[in-house]
Amino acid sequence: MIVAENLARTYDMGKVIVHALRGISLTIQKGEFVGIMGASGSGKSTLLHLLGLLDKPTGGQIMLGGIDVKTLSDRKRTRFRLKRLGYVFQDYALVPELTVEENVYLTSMIRGTSKEEYQAQTLAILNRIGLADRLAHKHNELSGGQQQRVAIARAMVNKPEILFADEPCANLDSESSRNVLDLFRQINREMAQTIVMVSHEDWHMEYFDRVIILRDGLIISDGKPPEEFYQKGCNYS
Ligand SMILES: Nc1ncnc2c1ncn2[C@@H]1O[C@H](COP(=O)(O)OP(=O)(O)OP(=O)(O)O)[C@@H](O)[C@H]1O
Ligand SMILES: [Mg+2]
Repeated sequence: MIVAENLARTYDMGKVIVHALRGISLTIQKGEFVGIMGASGSGKSTLLHLLGLLDKPTGGQIMLGGIDVKTLSDRKRTRFRLKRLGYVFQDYALVPELTVEENVYLTSMIRGTSKEEYQAQTLAILNRIGLADRLAHKHNELSGGQQQRVAIARAMVNKPEILFADEPCANLDSESSRNVLDLFRQINREMAQTIVMVSHEDWHMEYFDRVIILRDGLIISDGKPPEEFYQKGCNYS
């Protein structure tokens, strides 16, 4: 469970102070698939980075799985991220020199998982997302949609409690976007995976259980997607 209370993030730019977030309170339950939406500059990425422990708030409190994250040392914070959180970004961020397989197991290696275990986990997740026949490919030998699926496999390989995704479909055509969203939806439904995803595409609301809309660093609405979108994106077998 994610609980945020009165979160603020201010950037002091010298002459100007930017109030990126002005007091965000929310609770996200295990297994929810939540979309964060709103205009450019409204604070979506800032909020995702704070909840994902990639940045620190200038005010307020975050509890993840019952832990007040402010109490974690930098080392514990890093371990928490490695062990319990997963991330997918819009630019995939694959390591170009590494193969598909190596990209997926890199963080497991860093975490100290045994070779047999991380190779088996990697094969299992790549099978799951339909890329088991691309193990030895480098990123420039894959389509954009396939690269993003590798990035998702990498985020999912250690079964994180929460998956954070910042505009994961931004560089994809609509068919590849649907593949990514279908995959998120399946993982969410089958594994009760909590997913927090930033998006600016209205049709993505078909996939979300809940949509949080930001404006100028504040939540202006939080609830089910509008009726015309609700649950339409469940058309997988
Ligand atoms: N590192 C930073 N330093 C200074 N200001 C920043 C920084 N990061 C973000 N901001 C500012 O904070 C506000 C919120 O930015 P944020 O990136 O969270 O917006 P966003 O909703 O993700 O926008 P987009 O849809 O364009 O990605 C913006 O006004 C932005 O200019
Ligand atoms: Mg952003």
